[in-house]
Amino acid sequence: MEVIACYSNKGGVGKTATSVNLAHALAEGGKRVLLCDLDPQGASSFYFRVKPSKKLDEARFFEDVARFTKAIRASDFERLDILPANMSFRDFDVFLARMRNKRSRLKKALSAVGNDYDVIVLDCPPNISALSENVFKAANRIIVPVIPTTLSARTFEQLVEFFDEHGLRRRKLAPFFSMVETRKSLHTDTMKEMRARYRKLFLESTIPFSADVERMGLKRAPVRSYAAKKPAGRAYAALYKEVLGSGVK
Ligand SMILES: Nc1ncnc2c1ncn2[C@@H]1O[C@H](COP(=O)(O)OP(=O)(O)O)[C@@H](O)[C@H]1O
Ligand SMILES: [Mg+2]
Repeated sequence: MEVIACYSNKGGVGKTATSVNLAHALAEGGKRVLLCDLDPQGASSFYFRVKPSKKLDEARFFEDVARFTKAIRASDFERLDILPANMSFRDFDVFLARMRNKRSRLKKALSAVGNDYDVIVLDCPPNISALSENVFKAANRIIVPVIPTTLSARTFEQLVEFFDEHGLRRRKLAPFFSMVETRKSLHTDTMKEMRARYRKLFLESTIPFSADVERMGLKRAPVRSYAAKKPAGRAYAALYKEVLGSGVK
């Protein structure tokens, strides 16, 4: 079982769009996938037309495997299940902070359902907190959408520093360029510069800025379910293949 976290310390960069489309593309490709919506705003649950789960006793949620598995919902797509956002995830990092010496709880809860899934995708909220650190440990790969602008480059730098300072493995990070507009020289220059600075860290695949991705909110469905042959649909297929091929272990 692979755990792929979609994370950035910045909001609005395409984490949810990536989680939703990557999870869907993986399921299309024959993997059994569980998408966990860890962001209390519940955007990925929304895209899959799944209601947030009712408030559970947050302190016990990740300890109690039965509750965890009971909250899982089927999506409209074969092989793809969703763990809907739970408002109590808002307190999840506080809960983790209280249990400092038991940081692997999330991992335990995930591996308890592991037999049912080939890949678990985590749509993360955008902060470096106890939840994020837990996610960094639980994940085999951390997919990081980076919009090729000066500010995003800086934010990515901070994430890499955080990894270095906390003894986390940099190589777990799989950044890729998101919302790319190749007609903007700022975008192409930033991509070139960052690829040179972080040699081999960035994935080759990029996701273009696309109205088809924006339309996910209206369609409430992953891009490839209505625009598989369009550039964004193709780009997500390429991204999923690269993520799998790049040795998620
Ligand atoms: N490749 C893209 N092209 C155009 N719009 C995008 C793209 N990816 C995401 N968006 C839009 O940008 C906004 C933020 O994306 P989202 O995935 O919710 O970011 P995050 O989860 O990082 O906050 C959403 O309105 C989404 O529709
Ligand atoms: Mg999001």
